[in-house]
Amino acid sequence: MLHPVILSGGSGTRLWPLSRQNQPKQFLSLIGDRSLFQETLLRASRLDGAQPPVTVCSDDHRFMVGEQLHAVGLDSGGIILEPVARNTAPAIALAAMHVAAGDPDATMLVMPADHLIEDEASFRTAVETALAEAGQGWLVAFGITPDYAETGYGYILRGEGLGEGAFRIERFVEKPDLATAERYVAERTYAWNSGMFLFRAARYLEELGRHAPDMLAAVRTAYESRESDLDFTRVPEAAFAQSPNDSIDYAVMEKTDRAAVVPVSCGWSDIGSWSSLWAVAQRDDDGNLHEGDVISVDSSGSLVRASERRLIATIGVEDLVIVDTPDATLVARKDRVQDVKTVVDRLKQAG
Ligand code: GDD
Ligand code: MG
Repeated sequence: MLHPVILSGGSGTRLWPLSRQNQPKQFLSLIGDRSLFQETLLRASRLDGAQPPVTVCSDDHRFMVGEQLHAVGLDSGGIILEPVARNTAPAIALAAMHVAAGDPDATMLVMPADHLIEDEASFRTAVETALAEAGQGWLVAFGITPDYAETGYGYILRGEGLGEGAFRIERFVEKPDLATAERYVAERTYAWNSGMFLFRAARYLEELGRHAPDMLAAVRTAYESRESDLDFTRVPEAAFAQSPNDSIDYAVMEKTDRAAVVPVSCGWSDIGSWSSLWAVAQRDDDGNLHEGDVISVDSSGSLVRASERRLIATIGVEDLVIVDTPDATLVARKDRVQDVKTVVDRLKQAG
């Protein structure tokens, strides 16, 4: 059976000052009324034959996750709470153990909680294709045609054809440097890794055991001492913290020879920064994206988000990002918003 697994552990620091440690971006209503997490839950529920989705998140976010799940009125396949973050490879391992415990033949579709997919029909077709390959023991990634040299993504070189619409992965390179990413994009032979994966749970655990045995052992020990309370599953911190901190991309996908890719064109985007939100959202005729009380005079190409109590007015500005919240305001050039991370790092240092 197909079990969607939603990864919701990230903090989304590049959407500061709106996203905070206790209010990560996947829980914010950035586009429309629902959060990206809720959109992901609904997308999962619309897949043919999908079981109720399993969510893996930080223990700190349990109430938010519970409330947001409840608000969309879906059944839950369980909420697994991480006492500490150890990145995606251990989070997916917990989910794999969880779904395999009730369904030894379980297939899981791993979905990050912070992505946008505009063309759901194409996405569903790709999932069908991937299901056939996962049944043959492949760990399937979904490949997206790159449109610029993004260094924050993984890159996939496709090899021989498997079934219809699927290929063996010849090489998987996570987050290459800029020169390498530029070369990959110019060569037109690489796809971006979308960060969504589909595989049999048992198969993932097997590959994890092969390439990261310490991680598998630590997660297994933690999972064996789990406690369940209504919808929540908790694992002990001392055991889970023993797991190395690593992503599925580095720990498994770069190393395994059982990886396949299904290319998909589904209007996918990762809302990683203010500029990517601006790029995917509906803008006005001057290319502005306004939220809240905003007056703009001769301004263009800007994202301006007012907080509830203050009006923002701009005159003659271009390509700016202005985000106001009750206790912090960001003003940045739109092409510099990746550096919001630097601000957050400084805030952390300052304690
Ligand atoms: N539960 C849980 N626990 N979720 C986590 C954790 C964790 O410790 N760490 C990250 N996540 C969640 C994030 O919330 C996000 O939804 C997803 O897992 C991916 O993590 P990111 O931190 O956003 O990864 P990335 O964007 O740097 O890179 C991944 O996604 C790219 C596409 O967006 C990789 O898979 C890249 O190869 C890929 O191109
Ligand atoms: Mg991401």
